[in-house]
Amino acid sequence: SGALRGVVAMDGPSGTGKTTVARTLASRLGAGYLDTGAMYRLVTLAVLRAGIDPTDAAAVAGHAGTVELDVGTDPARPAALLAGAELAAEIRTEEVNRAVSPVSAVPEVRELLVARQREIIERVLAATGGIVVEGRDIGTVVAPDAGLKIYLTASAEVRAERRGAQDAAAGRASAPDDTRASVERRDRLDSTRAASPLRPAEDAVPVDTSELNIDQVIIALSELACRRGLLN
Ligand code: DC
Repeated sequence: SGALRGVVAMDGPSGTGKTTVARTLASRLGAGYLDTGAMYRLVTLAVLRAGIDPTDAAAVAGHAGTVELDVGTDPARPAALLAGAELAAEIRTEEVNRAVSPVSAVPEVRELLVARQREIIERVLAATGGIVVEGRDIGTVVAPDAGLKIYLTASAEVRAERRGAQDAAAGRASAPDDTRASVERRDRLDSTRAASPLRPAEDAVPVDTSELNIDQVIIALSELACRRGLLN
């Protein structure tokens, strides 16, 4: 294979292996990587730290414009910063998991972050030629012209299991039933919100990762990218 040219959009619910897949694919193809979920998590953490109720859409919309967030695009070190402070671990707590869906449902928040995401994508494309972007609305809203759109899925059981393993690896305690309920609740909220709900783009390739390991997924996606003429 070669280096990626253009955009690979990677959407789907949580626990499908999206982050691992997107980062690994970007590394293998010498491309940049953008975790748009980290941007919604950073705004959510800032909202919580400011003592704002995450379900108060007007207050969230008002605060969002003042948030100084930054994300890295190196797949080896995906930095997430608020006012220059690295917060990659802090944005993945259960408290943020619970608050991120209402915050990301606020249209003003989405407008702001989508504009930032498009800027980052343009900058990385100009610098390295290729980028893998993961989120919920990349193929539908952020990068509708992406050369390849992937929609990752996995059974609810597998997704809860993977989220639990991620929590354990990060030293966060979680009960399996709570994890499953939390994953399902967030996906329901993300799929039913009015503003850019989670749904596959019409031209997205669905990939069910329930029975596949990471290497198998990467091989399948690299082949797709190759067939689309995105590798040089
Ligand atoms: O990918 P993640 O689990 O870190 O995303 C966290 C939340 O952010 C997710 O529950 C919904 C929201 N999100 C979004 O609305 N749009 C995106 N492009 C990415 C994430």
